[in-house]
Amino acid sequence: AQILVLHGPNLNLLGEREPAVYGRATLAEIDAALRVQAEAAGHTLESLQSNAEHVLVERVQAARGDGTAFILINPAAFTHTSVALRDALAATGLPFVEVHLSNPHAREPFRHHSYFSDLAVAVICGFGATGYRHALDHALRHLEPGEA
Ligand code: DQA
Repeated sequence: AQILVLHGPNLNLLGEREPAVYGRATLAEIDAALRVQAEAAGHTLESLQSNAEHVLVERVQAARGDGTAFILINPAAFTHTSVALRDALAATGLPFVEVHLSNPHAREPFRHHSYFSDLAVAVICGFGATGYRHALDHALRHLEPGEA
């Protein structure tokens, strides 16, 4: 099946952006590891990072008809602001896992609310880049025939 990985604003700076908070792994390294993990399980994986809300909304809309079976998304700052991206995910009806490198609940109060968590099948935060691997593990189990 096709798995879609979406990364929100400023995640293109991973590796150099506040490494004490977000770690040293670059987005390219994270995406490459996810692709290897998905392909080893017989699936395909596409990643997209954008700083623009409408680009992410349009990619989610397109996922309705392009064979995407599961979405992993780190909405980054849009987590706390974007009703539009939330509505796009709700419209697709596709299962998704929400991922954060840091633990937003241990940070500023404005990061404590997510527009996505109540729609997500699972939320992973605070594990750094490893959180993406856990999220994909879950997606791969979800996509196995006979699994819920
Ligand atoms: C983040 C947490 C958000 O609060 C922040 O705006 C980000 C990254 C994370 O992965 O920890 O950009 O989603």
